Amino acid sequence: MSQKPLNPNEPQYRSLSPFRYPGGKAFLSAFLADRIPNLGEGERHYAEPFCGGAGAALVLLKADRVQHLHLNDADTRIYSAWRAMLTETDRFVDRILSTPVTVDSWHWAADLIKDAAKGNYDFDLGFATFFLNRASRSGIIIGAGPIGGYNQNGRWKIDARFNAAGLADRVRWLGSVREQISITNEDGLTFLHNSLSRTPLDRTLFFVDPPYVHAGGRLYLNAMNEGKHIALSDILQDSALKHWILTYDDHPLIRTLYGGQDIASLDVTYSLQNKRKEKEVLIQPV
Ligand SMILES: C[S@@+](CC[C@H](N)C(=O)[O-])C[C@H]1O[C@@H](n2cnc3c(N)ncnc32)[C@H](O)[C@@H]1O
Repeated sequence: MSQKPLNPNEPQYRSLSPFRYPGGKAFLSAFLADRIPNLGEGERHYAEPFCGGAGAALVLLKADRVQHLHLNDADTRIYSAWRAMLTETDRFVDRILSTPVTVDSWHWAADLIKDAAKGNYDFDLGFATFFLNRASRSGIIIGAGPIGGYNQNGRWKIDARFNAAGLADRVRWLGSVREQISITNEDGLTFLHNSLSRTPLDRTLFFVDPPYVHAGGRLYLNAMNEGKHIALSDILQDSALKHWILTYDDHPLIRTLYGGQDIASLDVTYSLQNKRKEKEVLIQPV
């Protein structure tokens, strides 16, 4: 029986992720939902090796199109934020509600996360990452100042994107579905290798949104070089992963590596401020 099309703009699906993510892919959730019926019968899984804000994943879970999420990010800061929200939910909610949204807090967070892309899980690191994502220009964690500037003389103030009550609700919801979400801190390629034995492949949709090949002044950790982009294409095309969707920057290397697959163009809004668009491609196995 076919299901009603998923509309991610319905109020219950809007703003599920606690993160603002440049280039976030929540808008693809309807497209991804349409791919789920191709999976085998039974409990459906969804895996994201480069999860970032995981916008699309949360819509699919909330709409019960999938019953389990496997989220992964190599950046320990992002991982710590997810893990803190999922496993120390009450503490995280208290912290959201009690932290003053000020430039002083912003400096505390910026100092804490400096050079912390690799390391171990830490609650404060997770909260600081979340705080910076909400209080910095364009949601950029490293290299962007606070919204409204250091002297707070801009048009918007530092708390413009920090609706504490609303954010606390998002995190409480995450806590309520924590049994359905696994979070790991592996390299994306290792995650995919591990998934071969960890996940029911015939019932899992892999949504792969790696850092750009041409990273330029990218906004998040980019732990991918050309060799890794090639290795990723090998795993996706030569292994037992059947159900995958891939998005990338529209780069000649990608067009060559995936020449035999179905490649479509995609416009993605990047800057949250000036609505800058990037040309991406969306690739599916033929
Ligand atoms: C393009 S973003 C994903 C955005 C996500 N799809 C969303 O909608 O929010 C890329 C993410 O990959 C992570 N990352 C970078 N290199 C990685 C690697 N080698 N393995 C796993 N994650 C990586 C970054 O920390 C970043 O959060």
